[in-house]
Amino acid sequence: MWLKAWKQKKMDLLDQIVPERLPRHIAIIMDGNGRWAKKRALPRSMGHRAGVEALRKVVKTCSNLGIKVLTVYAFSTENWSRPKDEVGFLMTLLTEYLRKELQELHENDVVIRAIGGLQDLPKEAQRELNNSIERTQNNTGLILNIALNYGGRYEIINAVKKISGDVLSGKQQIDAIDEECFSNALFTRGLPDPDLMIRTSGEMRLSNFLLWQLAYTEIVVIDELWPDFGEKALLDAIIAFQKRDRRFGGIHTD
Ligand code: IPE
Ligand code: IPE
Ligand code: MG
Repeated sequence: MWLKAWKQKKMDLLDQIVPERLPRHIAIIMDGNGRWAKKRALPRSMGHRAGVEALRKVVKTCSNLGIKVLTVYAFSTENWSRPKDEVGFLMTLLTEYLRKELQELHENDVVIRAIGGLQDLPKEAQRELNNSIERTQNNTGLILNIALNYGGRYEIINAVKKISGDVLSGKQQIDAIDEECFSNALFTRGLPDPDLMIRTSGEMRLSNFLLWQLAYTEIVVIDELWPDFGEKALLDAIIAFQKRDRRFGGIHTD
């Protein structure tokens, strides 16, 4: 459905992308909604609303390109420290997004997943999320993985508790704890590590995002604010990624 219309569009940037070397997993820190609103003398909530529109576009483009996984940082464990109204608005926006978009996402074969302390989200958001996850679980297209009440440190502690429990019950041998076992105890279990991580609005930090998984990820920071991010910016980031030399600690022998 999305793909058909997209294929009719002519895009010069697309010709610069090598299909065989697409990132399998793209992770995005969607930052800058507040600044976008401030520049326009609008309330921050309007920035978040505009941010949802950017997300819709990016999901579509990733799906059309054949990207396997898109992880988006929607709400961090630290974002609870924002004013109550803003937190409430973000939660309502999430519920609204899922309610409005589920049908179209489903028709386009998108699988919805979520990572983070989901049990602490408002009940309404949890219900909508569980429904979306269940409804799309047998799809085979893009995995849209939403990080909600997510923190890398929280995720790591959570994994440590899980593995410790398995050690205590005799299910896990201490000597057999390795990177694979640890990865499997994280919320991202079963997903490949991100190849490309994009952060918008110029900030050069991780802000507690995917601390374990980003070990060898290529990072692209762009100055554009998240609501201004669109198809062109995403294609540009992928082109920049494809020019990188990923050595993984090794050297080239040729
Ligand atoms: C990102 O935009 C959205 C969330 C963190 C939920 P911000 O709200 O952080 O926008 P800035 O950084 O204040 O501009
Ligand atoms: C990171 O952005 C979290 C999300 C995008 C959800 P923040 O705006 O919360 O990060 P800091 O505070 O600038 O580090
Ligand atoms: Mg921010």
